[in-house]
Amino acid sequence: MRIALLPGDGIGPEVIAAAVTVLEKAAGKFDFHFTTQLFDLGAERFLRTGETMPDKEFQSLRDDFDCILLGAFGDPRVPSNIHAKDILLGLRQRLDLYVNLRPVKLVDARLCPLKDVKAGGVDMAIVRENTESVYVGIGGRFKPGMPDEVAQSVMLSTRPGCDRLLRYAFELARTRRNKLVLCDKANAIEAAHGLWRLALKEMIKEFPDVQATTLYADVAAMRMVTHPHEFDVVVGDNMIGDILSDLAAALVGGLGLAPSASTHPGKVALYEPVHGSAPDIVGTGKANPLAAILSLGMLLRDQGQLAAAAAIEAACAQSVIQKACTPDLGGTLTTTQVAEWVGAAL
Ligand code: NAD
Ligand code: IPM
Ligand code: MN
Repeated sequence: MRIALLPGDGIGPEVIAAAVTVLEKAAGKFDFHFTTQLFDLGAERFLRTGETMPDKEFQSLRDDFDCILLGAFGDPRVPSNIHAKDILLGLRQRLDLYVNLRPVKLVDARLCPLKDVKAGGVDMAIVRENTESVYVGIGGRFKPGMPDEVAQSVMLSTRPGCDRLLRYAFELARTRRNKLVLCDKANAIEAAHGLWRLALKEMIKEFPDVQATTLYADVAAMRMVTHPHEFDVVVGDNMIGDILSDLAAALVGGLGLAPSASTHPGKVALYEPVHGSAPDIVGTGKANPLAAILSLGMLLRDQGQLAAAAAIEAACAQSVIQKACTPDLGGTLTTTQVAEWVGAAL
């Protein structure tokens, strides 16, 4: 298993180091082999050289690895529309990683900010389109800085883009509770989001066993809070999926617990926590590594290491339940101590 490590900025390096601690333990316990290679693409390098994602490194990531484990990108000293955009969105788009899977599960009732929700009462998989929508970067500024400045960002949906994501989501629903909801703003964004509804309507015919519905995304945000148990597979375009995934994460303990996988069958896959570089807590030991460790779990599952993946998931849940975790989840351990605890629990 050839793993590229992109720690990135802020707490990225801290949580990736923690994930590597767990990876080493898992390899010993479950008897698999891996190699890692570190890619220094953080803000420091950008400030030194002006480079973001040089072609040579991109080609190596594309051709020489099975998967990529990424921390976070974003540094207050560098413009994120250049640095993070080239690396984070650049990788997703240039590798055509159209699925962004973000599982959300409540493992400990005390972490849910809602009343009377039991462990397991929130269990959904956000399936976010990862290459299109307003993230395509089409548009620009006209008369920048002038009082009558014009700004345009194009929201782009393609029928193949809708179809391939929906197909993935329907197939995923079959492995879960056979329920899928498409969240969009087709009432306001008639063309780009209307296309999603059209694609869904046709694909439903191929999956009669899956209960597929639609919700306007604003209503979806409300119902996720009032009726979280109703949600199983949640599909959204790039922007809707981004927003709903942070909301969903907040229902189960926050960003410190939210992992993700960006994939396209047959291509190198990218695993990363949903959270960002958290400049406010960098260097304090307060960075929760569980989102990165759970992302590693997703990586191992996709690489066929099912037992290791299940053990990592169970150990992370225990660290939360036993409060062997960072302060954001009510514990007193540091980032490194959580990694050691999870490693030992394997
Ligand atoms: P953020 O996710 O970095 O932080 C939001 C809040 O959550 C902060 O209070 C932070 O301390 C807390 N938090 C986040 N991760 C945590 C963890 N593991 N443990 C404990 N607390 C945690 O979002 P932001 O502050 O809006 O963004 C900071 C930078 O990160 C920006 O430059 C943004 O663009 C970037 N960002 C990057 C990614 C990514 O690389 N995938 C994702 C989101 C944001
Ligand atoms: C995420 C982040 C990114 C996104 C930002 C940093 C561009 O919020 O991975 O969820 O919007 O995709
Ligand atoms: Mn986000």
